[in-house]
Amino acid sequence: MALHDILTRMTPKVLDGTAIAAEIKAEVRHSVEALAHRGIVPGLAVVLVGSDPASEVYVRNKVKSSGELGIRSLLLTPAADITEAKLLALLAELNVCEDIDGILVQLPLPKHIETRRILEAVDPGKDVDGFHPVNVGRLQIGQESLVPCTPAGIMQVLHRSGIPIAGRDCVMVGRSDIVGKPASTMLLNEGATVAVCHKGTRDLAAYTQRAEILVVATGVPGLIQPEMVTPGAVLIDVGINRLDRAADVERFFPADEGRRATFAKRGFVLMGDIDPRCYERSSAYTPVPGGVGALTIAMLMHNTVKAARMRRGLA
Ligand code: GUN
Repeated sequence: MALHDILTRMTPKVLDGTAIAAEIKAEVRHSVEALAHRGIVPGLAVVLVGSDPASEVYVRNKVKSSGELGIRSLLLTPAADITEAKLLALLAELNVCEDIDGILVQLPLPKHIETRRILEAVDPGKDVDGFHPVNVGRLQIGQESLVPCTPAGIMQVLHRSGIPIAGRDCVMVGRSDIVGKPASTMLLNEGATVAVCHKGTRDLAAYTQRAEILVVATGVPGLIQPEMVTPGAVLIDVGINRLDRAADVERFFPADEGRRATFAKRGFVLMGDIDPRCYERSSAYTPVPGGVGALTIAMLMHNTVKAARMRRGLA
């Protein structure tokens, strides 16, 4: 039988992000316990400016996970009209606070605040998001550093699922500073051949069809269609999109009774950037929800403990 036929007949493996996240959190809990024997409790400061509903949910989950793993968290919620100067002063205080190992400023920030200036004001040693230019640069040259959580989660999914990276053709669709750029750098640092595309790429399919590992983070529901996927590819979907129109649910999930029932009950369903009809062509894929999304907080917890250790010369 031709290789193509074997690959197309394989049952794709579901890459269970929730299970991998639980595994990582258990490891973080052990590390926290080991630090407790030395009298160290890692501390994470989460700064949420204003009251964006989506950010509130994310932040609540970050604080909750910290508590579950024995990490002390400090939630700071300045009003949306805080001045940039006051926010910078707050970060300066956190930078020198002995009890704080990690600092996270939830994005997006209100328009009157210059995001880059804020991210650069975080001590790189406490930058658990990996957004400071020093950490971005360290990642670029392959130096040990604090790296962005979602791309780090993608790498964990690949590693822990036994998916080889070195020498493989990878295509990253998405060029954000938070996901696309750092994820492509991490893949490149591990010896993959990486093409970086985005939703404005001309003839996107010509690139994606070459991918043995296809990573997508664009925020465009169903951007990747079956004919854009080579049989046997590994599909990593970072998109979490809300579908709230019945026509879209019909289009993407014509035979998915469960999803349609959820839509009828809640008025929306979640889907990724990869059309689920692509899955049957793949050798493995991350579902949405339950894929990469679950890893981001696990890696934030990992980074907080790493920062706590690094600051004390233990890493
Ligand atoms: N907003 C959306 N994703 C993120 C993230 O990974 N970190 C922060 N700080 N804000 C975000």
